[in-house]
Amino acid sequence: MLNVAVLVSGGGTNLQAIIDSIESGRITGARIAAVISNNKNAYALTRARKHNLTAVCISPKDYETREQFNEALLEYLVNAGIDLIVLAGYLVVVPKIIIERFKNRIINIHPSLIPSFCGTGYYGLKVHEAALKRGVKVSGATVHFVDEGTDTGPILMQKAVEVLPDDTPETLQRRIMEQAEWVLLPAAIDAIANGRVTLKDNIAAVINGGHVE
Ligand code: GRF
Repeated sequence: MLNVAVLVSGGGTNLQAIIDSIESGRITGARIAAVISNNKNAYALTRARKHNLTAVCISPKDYETREQFNEALLEYLVNAGIDLIVLAGYLVVVPKIIIERFKNRIINIHPSLIPSFCGTGYYGLKVHEAALKRGVKVSGATVHFVDEGTDTGPILMQKAVEVLPDDTPETLQRRIMEQAEWVLLPAAIDAIANGRVTLKDNIAAVINGGHVE
């Protein structure tokens, strides 16, 4: 059984999709061992508690230095026996010590088709504002492994979503969540939990396809 930690900062709809997928059997071989937020008021923590999951707040604000926060987060993950870290709307830069310790065992969901509209400054609605400003006709979501860069790690899965002429950043964000993010992130966890992901020369591949309907 793969022990998953889901790291969140906000509403937690992606967390909810993971919880629902485990409960319905669309994800097998994985359990959520901890939900961790940097924000004690994150609704994602409430969602976790409603499903009797371990939900904790580990915030940089509660430590004197950033290093102490980094160490505390790492210690928690190691002590909880975490195998896979899932960043689901986590707005804290993952410290280097965690990236090194959990090499190729951290995934993130980004609401665009990487390498478009990603990297520093592209988060939340800003991603969709930029996509609309550029006039793209297709956007989507990407699940990728996390390395030391911002949105630069190996791409695991992607799903395209149509951009409509009268979209606002909010309507596009919602459609990408519904049609791509909530499908893709559970599918990626299921693929990892069932040994269907390979990683060679920085290229990730999913056996039976990285294309999700
Ligand atoms: C999603 O758009 C995700 O792609 C991005 O942050 C948002 C999180 O939403 N990284 P939620 O907290 O899962 O509802």
